[in-house]
Amino acid sequence: MILVTGGAGYIGSHICAELARVGRDFVILDNLSNSSMDAVDRLQQLVGRAVPFHAGDVRDTALLDRIFTEHAVSSVIHLAGLKSVAESVANPIDYFDNNVAGTVRLLAAMRRADCKTLVFSSSATVYGAAATMPVTEDAPCMAVSPYGRTKLMVEEMLSDLHASDPAWRIARLRYFNPAGAHESGLIGESPRGTPNNLMPYLAQVASGERSALTVFGGDYPTPDGTGVRDYIHVVDLAEGHVAALDFLADNPQDVVLNLGTGSGTSVLEMIAAFAKASARSVPFEIAARRPGDVATCFADVGRARRILGWTATRDLDQMCRDAWRWQLVRKG
Ligand code: NAD
Ligand code: UD1
Repeated sequence: MILVTGGAGYIGSHICAELARVGRDFVILDNLSNSSMDAVDRLQQLVGRAVPFHAGDVRDTALLDRIFTEHAVSSVIHLAGLKSVAESVANPIDYFDNNVAGTVRLLAAMRRADCKTLVFSSSATVYGAAATMPVTEDAPCMAVSPYGRTKLMVEEMLSDLHASDPAWRIARLRYFNPAGAHESGLIGESPRGTPNNLMPYLAQVASGERSALTVFGGDYPTPDGTGVRDYIHVVDLAEGHVAALDFLADNPQDVVLNLGTGSGTSVLEMIAAFAKASARSVPFEIAARRPGDVATCFADVGRARRILGWTATRDLDQMCRDAWRWQLVRKG
């Protein structure tokens, strides 16, 4: 049995859909702080059966112990956490508590249950302004926000944990820019309030919910002057998690892996792709750079391909089509 913390969220719900598709049993723990029961209902509709779900917090030790015992959990995919860079700057204590203390509680419960297989959601943000692109897992890490630092702190804890007891099997997955939605149109990203990230904002501009996209910076040292990122379809990302679990089943290791596509897309290229997929116009205006943004970030995906035998297969057009379908469903 696989425990998926944060399984009602954007990435977690797609991982659960993929686990169901390949016939793996899972249980979700989520406090619904950034998701809703609607997502769980839709997931159940998608997988065609009831999904074991616990509404609760990953910092709740008694609840964790109950879940590990009740469900005989043998591995964990840990996604539960907060993820807004701006919010983490304004309120770092919440981020240390949720993301770092939450992981410590989870690890302690895993040890009590003798469950020592963990897949952790890390982020390309740990590379900061890396000097060379594509960035490999061996590049020096340097977080530039409290959010990024929580990911780095947890990664360092996991490294220490494996050094102390090599029976732990750990995959630290550094996601690049997850985008798109499940092709069923049943699950996708549902940001609360004004989206911070490019894709959900674009979808809301295309649908007329917002008037125009603000492009943060047109003077970067990139081919068209706008920021370049490695957008990865969320279903490809979900498949990467199953591959990581399979790898850990045969290899008691602590591995660090980039999950991206290996190629970069600029903001202007993404606007064009979204306009094409939605057959809507996407008004935009170029403004100042957003503080903390880097010009370019894309993954070297060689290690994931080599050791997991996994590679992203869905292209930008599919990401935009699926995100657009979900936007239409979400708006009703
Ligand atoms: P999300 O907010 O949609 O999902 C996170 C889920 O965790 C939510 O359902 C939320 O309710 C739940 N949660 C938060 N704190 C909790 C707690 N203390 N106890 C129980 N549940 C809790 O975000 P997402 O985009 O699906 O991201 C999932 C993970 O991947 C996060 O750890 C995030 O930092 C990481 N990540 C995301 C991205 C991205 O672009 N989306 C990129 C890199 C890494
Ligand atoms: C951001 C976070 C990163 C986090 C990731 C996933 C920052 C500085 N970084 O990455 O830590 O892991 O989200 O949650 O917040 N853009 C616009 N207009 C917009 C929104 C974005 O032009 O309204 C541009 C950005 O400048 C960037 C690109 O689009 O060049 C992608 O932005 P975004 O989707 O926010 O992701 P990242 O900044 O890469």
